[in-house]
Amino acid sequence: MKVTMQKIESLAKQRGFIYPSSEIYGGMANAWDYGPLGVELKNNFKKIWWKHFVQENADIVGLDSAIIMNPKVWEASGHVGEFGDILVDCKKCKNRFRADHLIEDAIGIDVEGKPLDVVNKTIKENKVKCQFCKASDWTDARHFSGLFKTHIGVLEDKSSLAYLRPETAQGMFVNFKQVLASVRKRLPLGVAQIGKSFRNEITPGNYTFRTREFEIAEFEYFINPKDWEQKFDYWMQEMMRFAEIIGIPKSKIHQHEISKEKRAHYSLRTVDLELEFPFGVKELWGLAYRTDYDLKKHQEYSGQDLTYTDPETGKKFIPHVIEPTFGVDRSLLAILVSSYDEEKVKSAKGEMETRVVMRLPKDLAPYKVAVLPLSKNPELSPKAKEVFDLLKEKFMCDYDETQSIGKRYRRQDEIGTPFCITVDFDTLKDKAITVRDRDTMKQDRVAIKDLDNYLADKLK
Ligand code: GAP
Repeated sequence: MKVTMQKIESLAKQRGFIYPSSEIYGGMANAWDYGPLGVELKNNFKKIWWKHFVQENADIVGLDSAIIMNPKVWEASGHVGEFGDILVDCKKCKNRFRADHLIEDAIGIDVEGKPLDVVNKTIKENKVKCQFCKASDWTDARHFSGLFKTHIGVLEDKSSLAYLRPETAQGMFVNFKQVLASVRKRLPLGVAQIGKSFRNEITPGNYTFRTREFEIAEFEYFINPKDWEQKFDYWMQEMMRFAEIIGIPKSKIHQHEISKEKRAHYSLRTVDLELEFPFGVKELWGLAYRTDYDLKKHQEYSGQDLTYTDPETGKKFIPHVIEPTFGVDRSLLAILVSSYDEEKVKSAKGEMETRVVMRLPKDLAPYKVAVLPLSKNPELSPKAKEVFDLLKEKFMCDYDETQSIGKRYRRQDEIGTPFCITVDFDTLKDKAITVRDRDTMKQDRVAIKDLDNYLADKLK
């Protein structure tokens, strides 16, 4: 079975995971809204991430910093000067391109991270053609800032200029000293955050893979520089372990060492964890050694002392940083792609049909349980609602009494609900229900009084 983006997009829209944004106004290119199931999936992902990296590590604490920070933060971090892509315009049809993508698509040469003069020379020497009008008449390549700008207050001039954060990391850097003082911990210390980030991407696309507004879950792990290699390797293993927890097979992830030219300006080593998406092998997450770059810059620009004193040696130094970073939306896309499955099964009429199953890990599934009366019936519905009320405090439950039971099972399979509970006419006599397992389709008869424990055990 080959999963395609078309299958994922259509299921996600139909079942309420992801909708195109502002659709009643014709949509908003590359913006997406999470529907009732999408928001559950996203919240579950964040909960598991937080548990794995914050709750289960005594040396990692959380933070929730502002999206719009003092603009000096972005000058110090280097984002105002360095963050963005190189662009060229076709003089004939006026279309604008990210130069490295244009060149790669046209002649297969990779110029990502190369200086402007190399980009210009490559375009000229190879007579790169415009994808749209086929002319080869280009403006000079130039830098384009990926920062989203805004203005604060009533004036719209330089003095009121501010930026929407392109990463959450700077919140951790500027708060590092305060966090250290308030939690009274020593190095190594991790500070984690999940939050919205914004980038004025020139070539967004591939559904939710690259958008202009997205969420990042990341932590800055502050260390003594002598430990950097060991900690880097450790967090790489933990990222791989986390992939398995959320149902992404290790075998589908490739660790890609990023070359010096292509690394972000702050990094001395970056390894991307790439995944086999239906549109190719692409970056899923990243692990970077940011050295003391950020804290050093903030110390310089703010004039504040951001050093740490080693309690054992009394030596002062600026902590170095290992940064595991995870795009939340990109992770959800990876989860949907990895969980999507189709199998041939026999229908009630004995015909072979295709069953679509979203084999989500149980912790991620939007609904853990669906309560389904066998049919819409004045005797069954109240009993089924009773079962729903019994379970709703402990488990996220769906309740559905429309359509045939077969169709309702299929719908729950498609949204990844691990268990369906059927209330039938026997239930009224034997006070038991049928529990159907999403993956095996096997059914168990369970007494209502034991249901709570039965499910808790199965969902462990
Ligand atoms: N603080 C480090 C940092 O922001 P990054 O590789 O630029 O590193 C982190 O971004 C993660 O965010 C990426 O690994 C990817 O999962 C996700 N990401 C980056 N740009 C994105 C975009 N335009 N749309 C969706 N996700 C994106």
